[in-house]
Amino acid sequence: MDPHYTEWLNLVVRWVHMIVGIAWIGASFYFVWLENNLNRKDPKEGLSGDLWAIHGGGIYHLQKYKLAPEKMPEHLHWFKWEAYTTWLTGVLLLAVVYYLNAQLYLLAPGSELTSMQGIGISIASLVAGWFIYDFLCDSALGKRPALLGVVLLVLLVAAAWALSQVFSGRAAYIHIGAITGTMMVGNVFRVIMPGQRKLVAAITEGREPDPEAPAKALLRSRHNNYLTLPVLFIMISNHFPSTYGNEWNWAILFAIAMLSVLVRHYFNVRNKSENWAWTLPAAALGMFALAYVTKPALTVVQASSAGVVQEVTLEQVTSIVVERCASCHAANPTSEMFSAPPAGVILESSDDVIKNAARIHAQSVATQAMPIGNLTGMLPEERVMIGTWFDLNATSK
Ligand code: HEC
Repeated sequence: MDPHYTEWLNLVVRWVHMIVGIAWIGASFYFVWLENNLNRKDPKEGLSGDLWAIHGGGIYHLQKYKLAPEKMPEHLHWFKWEAYTTWLTGVLLLAVVYYLNAQLYLLAPGSELTSMQGIGISIASLVAGWFIYDFLCDSALGKRPALLGVVLLVLLVAAAWALSQVFSGRAAYIHIGAITGTMMVGNVFRVIMPGQRKLVAAITEGREPDPEAPAKALLRSRHNNYLTLPVLFIMISNHFPSTYGNEWNWAILFAIAMLSVLVRHYFNVRNKSENWAWTLPAAALGMFALAYVTKPALTVVQASSAGVVQEVTLEQVTSIVVERCASCHAANPTSEMFSAPPAGVILESSDDVIKNAARIHAQSVATQAMPIGNLTGMLPEERVMIGTWFDLNATSK
């Protein structure tokens, strides 16, 4: 597909995904908040509580029924399309970014898999994720939510590790997000909505509602609540190569997910107790600690003064640059993503390297913004070599 139109397709799908995702998560945050802040002191007959709020210049009075009003209202609003459209646009975005350019974005650098095999693994991971999750929730484990939570966590971390072996770090992260998002939408589609439909049908027909259904729906909506923040992080993770690009990327994802689950827990219970307030400073400290431990071990100056790298020739640098950069930065890029060299930068010969030395240094040593998402799998040693060459040669010229 023409890279120009792919970009616009990406733009439109991503934009819609973000809009409907905000609508879904926003509604979900709002209802959790509502539930937690309901005034439950002497509720009126048949109510479990009420709440007054002001917003957008209007005053609202919301009431929650213990079960249902005597007569069901004609218009009952169901929140489901927010979730369904988030999933549909998410899968479409996965296809536009990762399936259309599977060799570049989906597969691990140097992978032997074909694009079709990678796409097969991707689809299989979403399907398997849902069925395994659904099976575990309905099994005996479903009655022991804490143990179930631990098992699910271990499985997700194992999946992150396994996917990071076959996919690029960036794609492995997005797939954990997509697997989790599929679980969350599956919960809405297969458990929460059917449960609500049964409840409404029972009430309208004057039958006693089945007590099992709400318990099942509660477990699933708890999971959705706790999974929200990790999934939101994953959605923005492709801006942060120091997370997905790290050798320990799956462990970093696990750590960030744990910190955000703790924070979510505090927001879930804080109307009842402040016992979990420590999770906020703990999460902040945790993020600082992660920033510290993920810092690359060797800086260029340390490496060259420690004698790790002694002499680097222009030929060596040129061969690194040609291998890692020229698939995109060529007069005629071999990368199918680009029909012209990105940003007009051409890096195909030693002359190009000399001419662009400062820009190469800025992009691949000082900030590591290039290669984009380290798609071509540039090694830390190669950055050190370019940095050393630049420090010792290019600057003196
Ligand atoms: C997968 C394709 C790809 C690879 C590989 C790649 N780049 Fe880029 N590069 C891009 C794109 C796309 C842009 C434009 C980025 C933007 O607009 O933000 C770019 C922009 C740049 C720029 C201009 C940045 C600016 O803001 O002026 C430089 C310099 C650069 N790349 C250097 C490199 C170097 C050095 C390497 C190899 C170490 C490399 N690139 C590898 C895709 C790539």
